[in-house]
Amino acid sequence: MYQKYDAVIVGAGGAGLMAALHLSSAGRVAVISKLYPVRSHTGAAQGGIGAALGNLEEDHWEWHMFDTIKGSDYLADQDAAEILCREAIETVYDLEHWGLPFSRTPDGRIAQRPFGGHTREYGKAAVRRSCYAADRTGHMILQTLYQQCIKHDVHFFNEFHLLDLLVEGGRCAGAVALCLATGELHTFHAKAVLLATGGCGRMFRVTSNALALTGDGMAVAYRRGIPLEDMEFFQFHPTGIYKLGILLSEGARGEGAILRNNQGERFMQRYAPTLLDLAPRDMVSRAIYREIQEGRGIGGKNYVHLDMTHLGREVLDQKLPDITDFVRTYLGIEPATQPVPVHPTAHYAMGGIPTDVDGRVVVDEHNTPLPGLYAAGECACVSVHGANRLGTNSLVDILVFGRRSGRHAATFMKQNDWPPLPPRPDERAAALLAQLMNTGGSERAADIRDTLQNEMMDKAGVFREAKGLQAMREKLQELRERYQRVKLEDRGAQYNTELVEVIELGGMIDLADTLVAGALARQESRGAHSREDFPQRDDAHWLKHTLAYQTPRGPELRYKPVKITKFEPKERKY
Ligand code: FUM
Repeated sequence: MYQKYDAVIVGAGGAGLMAALHLSSAGRVAVISKLYPVRSHTGAAQGGIGAALGNLEEDHWEWHMFDTIKGSDYLADQDAAEILCREAIETVYDLEHWGLPFSRTPDGRIAQRPFGGHTREYGKAAVRRSCYAADRTGHMILQTLYQQCIKHDVHFFNEFHLLDLLVEGGRCAGAVALCLATGELHTFHAKAVLLATGGCGRMFRVTSNALALTGDGMAVAYRRGIPLEDMEFFQFHPTGIYKLGILLSEGARGEGAILRNNQGERFMQRYAPTLLDLAPRDMVSRAIYREIQEGRGIGGKNYVHLDMTHLGREVLDQKLPDITDFVRTYLGIEPATQPVPVHPTAHYAMGGIPTDVDGRVVVDEHNTPLPGLYAAGECACVSVHGANRLGTNSLVDILVFGRRSGRHAATFMKQNDWPPLPPRPDERAAALLAQLMNTGGSERAADIRDTLQNEMMDKAGVFREAKGLQAMREKLQELRERYQRVKLEDRGAQYNTELVEVIELGGMIDLADTLVAGALARQESRGAHSREDFPQRDDAHWLKHTLAYQTPRGPELRYKPVKITKFEPKERKY
């Protein structure tokens, strides 16, 4: 099937929808999504979107920028972080004007609450910066943007799975996707393509990420010769529900919830005396693991308590209704009267497809753009989060850079003719499907995936060291060989979800390869990348971004400098 649109966006989360909206006045726009749009993972972002509105106390975008840079352990590109924090403010007001039902102050302004790592006066104390809609902020963003897109005639192709990008004559010319309902391949011919496919947390056993978060856009780009940036930096959110990993928003700690060990001690006092439970996530996750390793987990098990019992039912009901319901449903615990078992959960990829501040995908250490190709949101790396993202900054990122990408792509579309398509545009995608359908092997995809997730959790999670990473590299080679013999039971064309899972698994093995290669090479600890064998940050050698390229011998690593404009790297204390 052949489809022709001026712009094609892959992914219907906040970044994709925001870009689509800004493209919609410039031409015909299609959004391809493997889910029904309002089920996209943006909906799982609970606690809020950071913006220095100053509604409850003094605040400034410069303070937000400083917190973002310091939180990133100085790896964020500061030109991009400045844009993020400046443009956050009008982005939140845009959402308000489009009808997003924010929680309100008594006098009707957008309510704001504290969040990890967000401070006033360059680190003096926590500040109320997160604008929220109870603990359903991401969900409300999706609903608001989807309605705006429908109003502006954006065309949706739901339940379409991305298989390939079309690059011809040095320019992106479209994408190829599988229609799940029919099993047909669709070639989307476009002047501009934007990847907004989200993250890849499903490569870990315990994760807050939805089943769909398998890094499809990153994997497709990587196979087309585009490097992936800073993949070794993967964030673990401190408070996942014990064993399940389902997110319990940092908004709970923003409202005053406290982490306690088996002695009832507020242990964050020892790790971050100023910000306590609202220190950045990398620090809090490491602190929880240290407590567990040193025998202070609850009942000798691998979890600690999140204590919300002092917050009162009114706060829980009005400000944290969803997460308190999750606790009741999944753990049978009443959070108003009982502490909640939590441990860190794989949450967010700081790395991804490298872009400039207008969302243009760049393909080398000189930031050379690939014309016609854009990326935004978690699948992209602009890089505003560096080595560790602050809570609430993902929603800012998807909206600010979704909008900038959409605007830039709109101009690009107007200024450029249609790119030629390759002679058989769906050739690679068809070959991939044929190969997977006919391996003749007996390996079960679910077994390979379980091994991948378990081993990544143990060897490339919160703490890492050379021996484990090396073993993981060898394990990935073994998994790749097993994957060549994967067996598909379902040969049907319609809704072949087994086929989709196998495609996703192949991509996750590639992405895990880039994460492990980057982590093994990076002999320092910075942000979420914590090497037991190299515990110090080493700016002299490692204040630089990693670029991983696919080669037949595995990922090849190159590096590019970090952009520093306002804040020189300093020791990180909270
Ligand atoms: O804790 C949370 O509500 C998650 C927010 C985020 O990842 O930004």
